[in-house]
Amino acid sequence: MVEHMALGAFLQGFGHHQAGWRDPSTDPGSELTLEHYQRIAQTAERGQFDLVFLADVAGWRDWNRDTIQHLSRTAIFEPITLLSALAVSTRNIGLIATASTSYYEPFTVARMFNSIDRLSGGRAGWNLVTSTTEAEAQNFSREHQIPHAERYARASEFADVVRGLWDCWAADAVLVDKESGNYLNPGRVRELNHKGPYFQVRGPMNMARAVQGTPLIVQAGSSGAGMDLAARTADLVFTAQPTLESGQAFYADLKGRLPAHGRAPDSLRILPGLVAIIGSTEAEAQAKAASLEQLVHHRVGIGQLRDLLGVDLTDHDPDGPLPEIPETEGGKSRRQILIDMAKRDNLSIRQLYQKTAAARGFLAVTGTPEQVADAMELWFRNGAADGFNLMPPVMSRDLDDFVDHVVPVLQKRGLMRTEYTGATLRENLGLAKPASVYDPAG
Ligand SMILES: Cc1cc2nc3c(=O)[nH]c(=O)nc-3n(C[C@H](O)[C@H](O)[C@H](O)COP(=O)(O)O)c2cc1C
Repeated sequence: MVEHMALGAFLQGFGHHQAGWRDPSTDPGSELTLEHYQRIAQTAERGQFDLVFLADVAGWRDWNRDTIQHLSRTAIFEPITLLSALAVSTRNIGLIATASTSYYEPFTVARMFNSIDRLSGGRAGWNLVTSTTEAEAQNFSREHQIPHAERYARASEFADVVRGLWDCWAADAVLVDKESGNYLNPGRVRELNHKGPYFQVRGPMNMARAVQGTPLIVQAGSSGAGMDLAARTADLVFTAQPTLESGQAFYADLKGRLPAHGRAPDSLRILPGLVAIIGSTEAEAQAKAASLEQLVHHRVGIGQLRDLLGVDLTDHDPDGPLPEIPETEGGKSRRQILIDMAKRDNLSIRQLYQKTAAARGFLAVTGTPEQVADAMELWFRNGAADGFNLMPPVMSRDLDDFVDHVVPVLQKRGLMRTEYTGATLRENLGLAKPASVYDPAG
């Protein structure tokens, strides 16, 4: 087992709760400024987090005009643009952003993250997603999404091309030998010459090998196809797991798929999302959670369920039970988590969206700093997590609370470092430098 927990800060405007932006602590307008994100990334760095993470949906996830007017996430920065700004605002923290294999070309993705890795001194990671919304398909010249199985076939080849491009240059390819006039050693740079069903890419990459060997590959798919792709190609996996048991099952399942790809268990870190609402007493934390639930607009609740379940429940009685939900071509894993939760706790449609507005199927803890640390330690020590991807419900309030009150408890328990020890994201996470064609030992 890894000695320290890995910790990510999942940045999202005014926070992860659907109604977080309506909390009295937020400063309207600031979410559209660089300063807001700089402050948050710097707070995470002060808290010794390994990384900040920027998710992305390239369009309005919910294009229903009734709903969209109530959501703050209608305005989100293009993540790689924001990531490069954060690279110069921080020194140690890892920088992860999302790019979709359904709508990008592999050369573009390889080049962007190779560049951010160089610019940040070895701190970049790519969150590989296949995307799950029709809205995105319609922004990229398609009527509908590519079907789930084909999305993953394309993603698998996409990941191989990106890795191949990142490997085109040996670490010692750059000579800058003024005497001989050789900028590089041509024997240490190769073309890729990839020809596959989806992509034809000659290469080489037009940038030197990344500082950390290759940028990290991060994934968050939870279907069988998603987990197989992660087992083959990912360094880090984010996941939505609501209970210790589901966390342990996912962890064992994914780590169990590694040996088939010749990989050791420690070569991939699993970070479930954690939604923590913190109070100096349990009652104070509960009151914070209750006040947020009251701020969830009904139409937003319905839109949120449409996102997660793939069906529109507008015409159903909000105080009645969840109807049967058919299979869709959207994401599969969180849909099932919600269906199970509604059945188990006998929740009405309204209760389901109120209860899931903060957590949305992720681990949620409302309590004192010690209680939050207890939950994290339980998962970490019992085969459910190598760390956590923190999803503060209200930003920056709840990230500040976590850094000021939970991090010291984790440090005191020896679960978190007290200062950065590595120069790169890989080193801080304890992940080995990847092998390359020029350096098979890594
Ligand atoms: C923490 C977390 C972050 C995610 N970030 C994104 C994202 O930025 N963009 C996206 O399209 N999907 C994102 N996803 C969704 C996954 O990439 C994946 O598409 C989804 O879990 C469905 O995968 P499946 O069909 O393999 O179950 C995220 C999921 C999790 C758990």
